[in-house]
Amino acid sequence: MKTEMITRKPETLEVDLLAVGMFEDDLTPGSSLKVLDDALEGQISAVLEDKIFKGKKEETALLHTFRRIPARKILLMGLGKKEKFDKTVLRDIAALLTKKAKKEKCLKIGFWPFQKEGEKLPLKEYSAARFIKEGLVLGLYEFKQYKAKEEEEEDIQITAVKIVMDPETDNDDFTKGIKDGKSIAEGICFSRDLVNEPANKMTPENLALEAEAMARRKDLKVEIMDREELEKLEMGCFLGVAQGSIHEPKMVVLRYEGASKDPDQVIGLIGKGLTFDTGGISLKPAAGMEEMKTDMAGAAAVMGAMSAIADIRPPVNVIAILGICENMPSHRAYRPGDILKAMNGKTVEVLNTDAEGRLVLADCLTFAGRLGATHLIDAATLTGACVIALGNHYTGVLSNNSSWRKTVLEAGEAAGERLWPLPLDEVYKDQLKSDVADLANVGGRPAGAITAGMFLEAFVDERPWVHLDIAGTARTSKPASTQQKGATGAAVATLVQAVSDFSDSHSDELTKA
Ligand code: BES
Ligand code: ZN
Ligand code: ZN
Repeated sequence: MKTEMITRKPETLEVDLLAVGMFEDDLTPGSSLKVLDDALEGQISAVLEDKIFKGKKEETALLHTFRRIPARKILLMGLGKKEKFDKTVLRDIAALLTKKAKKEKCLKIGFWPFQKEGEKLPLKEYSAARFIKEGLVLGLYEFKQYKAKEEEEEDIQITAVKIVMDPETDNDDFTKGIKDGKSIAEGICFSRDLVNEPANKMTPENLALEAEAMARRKDLKVEIMDREELEKLEMGCFLGVAQGSIHEPKMVVLRYEGASKDPDQVIGLIGKGLTFDTGGISLKPAAGMEEMKTDMAGAAAVMGAMSAIADIRPPVNVIAILGICENMPSHRAYRPGDILKAMNGKTVEVLNTDAEGRLVLADCLTFAGRLGATHLIDAATLTGACVIALGNHYTGVLSNNSSWRKTVLEAGEAAGERLWPLPLDEVYKDQLKSDVADLANVGGRPAGAITAGMFLEAFVDERPWVHLDIAGTARTSKPASTQQKGATGAAVATLVQAVSDFSDSHSDELTKA
């Protein structure tokens, strides 16, 4: 899908579909739209006058041009109220556009998001382009490889999108936005694909192989470590979780080196990669258990982000660590009451084998520090408690460092993802006390997302660290414009943004050499 900006007159565009964005509270056509309306003998103004189209967000009206202009069809698209408009609305509209275009079998598209000329653009050019491109790609995402094709189903490929902008628009900024939007959206789609695969296909070994293949495609360094190596590293917590499954655990290390010399700051991205979480001996109830194939979404988010980072190439070094295994009950599974020894020497009493993600992450966080990561972010479908607290709309954020937390929260905002902080306060610490070990792996029902965060904090060795609990946001049962049912790709965009912003704020030091 070739996407480019043009400043040509929309009425001259030779496309199958020309989409025109209109604000609900400003439906009067600008002078260019009037030209189009005249060429169509007043069709557009008639639709507006008759209130067939009111410009509400995601409302659309399709008009046939009957070849009065080169474009075959016109799609009026509601942008909603001006005061509520932002980049995420634009992303939604762009996603809706590619969905509609595909349905209408239109391969060449014109998108004229802001029809009033001379008005100030409601967004920076870079953002407008990036979020349009993200929407165009995400709107087309599907996961259908296991379903037989319906009879008359054709493989429709949109070939070109021409975005009509004001002649004053900075083409360099716009082009960079399109390029970054493409990388991020592809990272999100990659992450969704990994999560949507069932656990019988996406086994620990296969997930590690996917990471390796991506690294080779994108020229990242990669290393896969198996059980023996984890044993050598004395990752007793990770190994304890993995021991119940016939599938061997894998730890994958990916490295992106964008800094010009040995930097003194390195970001560590850590992902929970439970290819399936049955709960183990503390077995989960049957209802909804199929959703636990999503329990590797943290690792998938880190993989999606690394793939985009490799494209965007910010001047910073990143080490990614994926903790991959399966949590199964079996004759050799770990048990409630077991005491595990983490890589950093701390002992953990297992009170519930379903609180396995924190055990895997504990050793991965320690390892990230050993490899030289100075700033950590982990992504994990960690707690049902986070879903209770924030539902399916917000990712929970826990951190030991207010400035690093601020950076990541701002990155989420810039990337168009919803993040919300929860307090990581010493007052919760008592809940994790064990009679027999340094820590218990669960802290009871109250504040479950927070105590899970407190547990992880014991393994970050005081490094600035942010934990993203994506338990509620990693999948959705409600399809939307940018989204079908299933995996969302949550946290990919935030991780990419945080890494890029980090390199911006440190670019002086990093580029001095
Ligand atoms: N993978 C789950 C968390 C989860 C729940 C993710 C719902 C997505 C949707 C995690 O391993 C888990 O089972 N956590 C337990 C912890 C409890 C035993 C302290 C939970 O949240 O119930
Ligand atoms: Zn669990
Ligand atoms: Zn889990």
